[in-house]
Amino acid sequence: MLTDHLNLVHDPNLLVGFETGDDAAVYRLTGGLALVQTVDFFTPIVDDPFTYGAISAANSLSDIYAMGAKPLTAMNIASFPQDLPKEILREILRGGAAKAAEAGVPIVGGHTIYDKEPKYGMAVTGVVRPGKELTNAGARPGDVLVLTKPLGTGVITTAFKNDRTDAATLEVAVRHMTALNKAASEAAVAVGVHACTDVTGYGLLGHLRGMLRASHAGAAIFFSRTPLMRGAWELAAEQHISPGGTSRNKEYHDSAVAWDAAVHPEAWRLLYDPQTSGGLLISVSPRKARRLVEMLHQAGVAEAAAIGKVTAGEGAPVTVTA
Ligand code: CO
Ligand code: CO
Ligand code: CO
Repeated sequence: MLTDHLNLVHDPNLLVGFETGDDAAVYRLTGGLALVQTVDFFTPIVDDPFTYGAISAANSLSDIYAMGAKPLTAMNIASFPQDLPKEILREILRGGAAKAAEAGVPIVGGHTIYDKEPKYGMAVTGVVRPGKELTNAGARPGDVLVLTKPLGTGVITTAFKNDRTDAATLEVAVRHMTALNKAASEAAVAVGVHACTDVTGYGLLGHLRGMLRASHAGAAIFFSRTPLMRGAWELAAEQHISPGGTSRNKEYHDSAVAWDAAVHPEAWRLLYDPQTSGGLLISVSPRKARRLVEMLHQAGVAEAAAIGKVTAGEGAPVTVTA
């Protein structure tokens, strides 16, 4: 891995480093308190600068929520072309600030440089009780897998950029991308779950495989139970739209995925669709699964659904059933 040579210091207080592909690092300060740290930024995913800022902030905060932690402070990280009106940058930062305010997180600083392309995101610091952090490891055979947001941000934003879909369809994706994973994380912590991550660039199957690798398990998921954004399926199945990242995700992971013959041949376009500010993927004991989904629905995480289960066996394939 690109990061292999970076791990030079052994520190027993580092509870979660980058080796396990988790969403954030967890560093124990005292017996009762651990620091949770993450940074994320990307280029504009939508044209409207305020919305872009809000999406990017929601995405950055999500890596703290995915650890079952509470975000405390955030710092902006941005790059901006010298020849673009500064008003655009102001709007991006305003969108990020509004989202951070919704999360109850003060922005305490930041840094901006000139660059050819705008980029924006946040470094977020949070806290968790040591040992209570939710990681990729810990999923157990028999667990139910719950996904808290529908898939489709890559398909829909790509379609919109190429004039293949309308503003109303984009609006659905924007609503999901700007939604904080705060309520979903709080429900997972309240119920008590075994593993958690958020679904972003590697798509559902990529992030699921990360969880299974860390947990030494396999999984079986149902495509028909996987929530999809309105319009995404038609764009993928009929118009064959997907961003470049989808085939890269497929190429990387597909040797470990067994597709049932009854699954629609275009389903991969959504199960590998790179998500921006995607939902949480949660592994929960079967006796708590129904309660978790009910709590999520009550908390307004309306499309959260049980999509499959964890199976036994190190390196077992992920099977996808219709
Ligand atoms: Co993440
Ligand atoms: Co991240
Ligand atoms: Co500076």
